[in-house]
Amino acid sequence: MPKWQDTPFRIEVKANDKISFCQCGKTQNPPYCDGSHAGSGIKPFRETFEDDKVIFICGCGNSKGKPYCDGSHKKLKTDQS
Ligand code: FES
Repeated sequence: MPKWQDTPFRIEVKANDKISFCQCGKTQNPPYCDGSHAGSGIKPFRETFEDDKVIFICGCGNSKGKPYCDGSHKKLKTDQS
């Protein structure tokens, strides 16, 4: 997954939302899947949410828990300073 931005995407999801997050890096609408993975053998990460909540999707490409942010972007900023 590529680096899209330095910080995670903050997304407000609602109960019963079904969202597909890009895992191939080709989407033109990160972090969402736009179908650009077709033919790559890579599938999006699909999730149905049970509750209204705020989630954070990795934007830096370094999370160990993709598609979710695990805070790795903070370490990158520390390493660069
Ligand atoms: S566009 Fe990347 S997984 Fe669908």
